[in-house]
Amino acid sequence: MDCALAVDTLWPALLQARSLSSAGVRDLAFVERATEWTCEATESLTVAGATQVVFVVAPTHPVPRPDVMAQARASTLAWRDDGMPDFQHTRQPVDAAVLTLLRVYGPVLLGAAAARARGGVFVVGHVTQTLDGRIACANRSPQWIGNTADRRHAHRMRALCDAVMVGASTALGDDPRLTVRDVPGPQPRRIVLSGHGSVLRTKRQLQLFTDHGCDVVTRTNVTEPAPAGVRRIDIDAPCGGLPPATILAELARRGVHSIYLEGGARTLSSFLTEDALDLLQVHIAPIVLGSGLTSFDLPEVATLQKAHSFAMQHATLDGDVLLSCRPQSARRP
Ligand SMILES: NC(=O)c1ccc[n+]([C@@H]2O[C@H](COP(=O)([O-])OP(=O)(O)OC[C@H]3O[C@@H](n4cnc5c(N)ncnc54)[C@H](OP(=O)(O)O)[C@@H]3O)[C@@H](O)[C@H]2O)c1
Repeated sequence: MDCALAVDTLWPALLQARSLSSAGVRDLAFVERATEWTCEATESLTVAGATQVVFVVAPTHPVPRPDVMAQARASTLAWRDDGMPDFQHTRQPVDAAVLTLLRVYGPVLLGAAAARARGGVFVVGHVTQTLDGRIACANRSPQWIGNTADRRHAHRMRALCDAVMVGASTALGDDPRLTVRDVPGPQPRRIVLSGHGSVLRTKRQLQLFTDHGCDVVTRTNVTEPAPAGVRRIDIDAPCGGLPPATILAELARRGVHSIYLEGGARTLSSFLTEDALDLLQVHIAPIVLGSGLTSFDLPEVATLQKAHSFAMQHATLDGDVLLSCRPQSARRP
């Protein structure tokens, strides 16, 4: 199957889906009429004029509208036992490129909606790495390892999630903006994790502190005040790393139900170790560095049985590969 992730005609419909799922709608229908795609609530969908339909629905509703499945060129996103999305088709499947987009972004929309319904947070980790699993040169100079299509994908993910989050070293070293610029869409809330408060001590005017500012999650006993543009979220913990479950509970209380966690290695690792990642997206660039920072930084294990295991699907981004990996410990949407 063609799995190139490059169809921007579907983007307005994905933004409509984000609004619907934020309003509590969990059964979505993507519909093409006269080459234009929209997203509607499944129950109010009228099939008249539809040339293609894709249902993206909660796993408990596998065939939402048998009438539509019988009449139109239609597919339903279903769920395999390992939690990965798959499609059930009518005799004439929907275009492969559309299905690829919905296989990548559908689980994020549904995961966020399910998390909102239960008062939790759906967390998608993202890493862009070399063939040998490096995310930065040893000197840590800020450089985007991925290609233009990966950047566009990252901006789509930011627009689809309530918040984007990075660790303090990434905020200080890369000075990222973490805004949506390559596609139209809403700006996410920006969050920096900084248990020891290192990001609060900087004298620099980081880009994250400008425009609509950012939240810094830190420990209650960190004494540095928040610089202009920063809101502190204090967590009562004696030292060092904060438990992801506590961080997520605090963010859910503030209305954040989906997070795009963009690194770096120690931050992603702290969430993976505590089974707090629902999905991991890995972009692989066709280069080998042979040195530098690795994607994860985890305690040593002696056997493969102790490794974190995933179910995995792939899409392509202008020739590079994007893996969607579902930790086998993750909750079903
Ligand atoms: N290629 C990519 O996809 C990618 C993406 C992002 C970053 N990067 C690169 O990665 C490098 C930075 O990664 P890194 O692993 O060194 O650092 P990092 O993960 O960006 O930041 C680590 C810091 O974040 C805070 N932190 C993380 N998890 C926490 C938790 N559970 N509770 C409390 N605080 C937490 C701590 O800050 P305090 O010290 O204040 O406690 C910790 O020292 C940079 O070179 C950057 O360019 C690459």
